[in-house]
Amino acid sequence: MSAAGIVIAGAGQAGFQLAASLREGGFRDPITLVGDETALPYQRPPLSKAYLAGKTDRTGLFLRQPGFFTEHSITHRPGVSAVAIDRAGRRLGLSDGDSLAYDHLVIATGARNRPLPVPGAELDNVHQLRGLADADALRAAIAAAQAIVVVGAGFIGLEFAAVAATRGLSVTVVEAADRAMARAVSPEIARFFRGVHEAMGVRFAFGASVTAIVGRQGRAAGIVLADGRELAADFVLIGIGVVPNRELAAAAGLPADDGVRVDAFLATPDPAISAIGDCARFPSPFARGLTPDGTVRIESVQNAIDQGRCLAARLNGKPAPYAALPWFWSDQGMHKLQIAGLAGPGDASVVRGAGDAFSVFRFRDGSLSAVESVDRAADHMIARRLLAAGTHLTPNQAADPDFDIKALAMRRP
Ligand code: FAD
Ligand code: APR
Repeated sequence: MSAAGIVIAGAGQAGFQLAASLREGGFRDPITLVGDETALPYQRPPLSKAYLAGKTDRTGLFLRQPGFFTEHSITHRPGVSAVAIDRAGRRLGLSDGDSLAYDHLVIATGARNRPLPVPGAELDNVHQLRGLADADALRAAIAAAQAIVVVGAGFIGLEFAAVAATRGLSVTVVEAADRAMARAVSPEIARFFRGVHEAMGVRFAFGASVTAIVGRQGRAAGIVLADGRELAADFVLIGIGVVPNRELAAAAGLPADDGVRVDAFLATPDPAISAIGDCARFPSPFARGLTPDGTVRIESVQNAIDQGRCLAARLNGKPAPYAALPWFWSDQGMHKLQIAGLAGPGDASVVRGAGDAFSVFRFRDGSLSAVESVDRAADHMIARRLLAAGTHLTPNQAADPDFDIKALAMRRP
């Protein structure tokens, strides 16, 4: 590889991991990490958990301290957007007018929050939660509020609701679907967490559609639902999912519909460009029967880190298809949800355990697709082994409390 080296657009979890893993694997040419945020690369999960609750400070969020970048000869360009790709000339245009030559370009631009298309959504105290600046604004808003409305009972909405309720705020969560976290978890898990939140005083409106955010003196004062109900709020948090930052790739003629399309090696059709993390749509062995073409886009730390590592290995001359098992976690109130694998809404459920600590084993076409565990870390680790190895577990075995799943998982292939 010549001296232009690798340019990474997006200095988040995936972009950072790629840069670090490239150096770890012996890569010697220049690495430039271009990021439109001004902070050092940081982790997002605490923004809706410990950082939001004021239990950890800013420095605890950074993936590495500044010295790491100089020591490893990684050029970090904060506060600069990648705006255009010149594929023929192999240059990346930047928002400050500069452009960077590349031998290989990696698109790691993540995702952004989906806007709520209703009147009033532009008001000052209508918040979202994606970055550090959002979390700082929300910390201040929580401190000054009494009653709030959260739109969306997904991971962000529920984690936020739990922190706000713990701080004594009156919280109402408005959700379009008929249950919480419907995109990602079973009805059993959704029901359990609804109970957890209700026990903390959170109220829910399911199957509800927001038609407007009402403003008073330029600030949101509440929301209006399609059935005419009005809910007063000191501020509103919108958490209705994300859309991939695909525009940079699409404008360069790369296939990018719901995500930048890559193959099993995380390569776009242009051999000099790859994509990783939240923005990438890739074929996954764990998506069989889940999506029509077997491709997925995954929004998780695990996926961002493992794709960063997988691509670094290829760029260091050790190519392998991306086949890491997807896993995820969410902290809500006193409970930890852990998910291994990828379930679809139609997957069957088998529950093991009871009360406040249990796991839901999900099956698609008779095969284990995912395991969702509440405060059962051991089940989660066993599930990861089973799913990663493709070990066959039947629904009857999962349903039998005397069947030793751990022994099955530990068995050598
Ligand atoms: P990001 O980390 O979002 O990084 C992308 C970066 O690229 C951003 O800094 C973005 O501003 C920048 N960028 C975009 N466009 C450009 C451009 N044109 N030029 C330059 N820079 C650009 N996952 C879990 O597994 N567990 C959790 O508990 C969890 N909690 C979360 C809580 C919150 C509040 C949020 C927001 C996310 C959470 N996630 C969680 C998801 C996880 O953080 C993401 O999946 C992960 O950060 C994805 O990494 P990424 O590098 O693809 O994207
Ligand atoms: N009104 C009310 N609810 C809506 C609307 C709407 N107009 N549109 C969507 N929703 C609901 C969805 O039904 C879903 O339950 O919002 C929820 C969004 O949940 P997620 O898809 O989990 O998205 P979000 O909570 O924003 O989290 C985004 O951040 O935690 C990370 O990586 C994690 O994928 C997650 C991402």
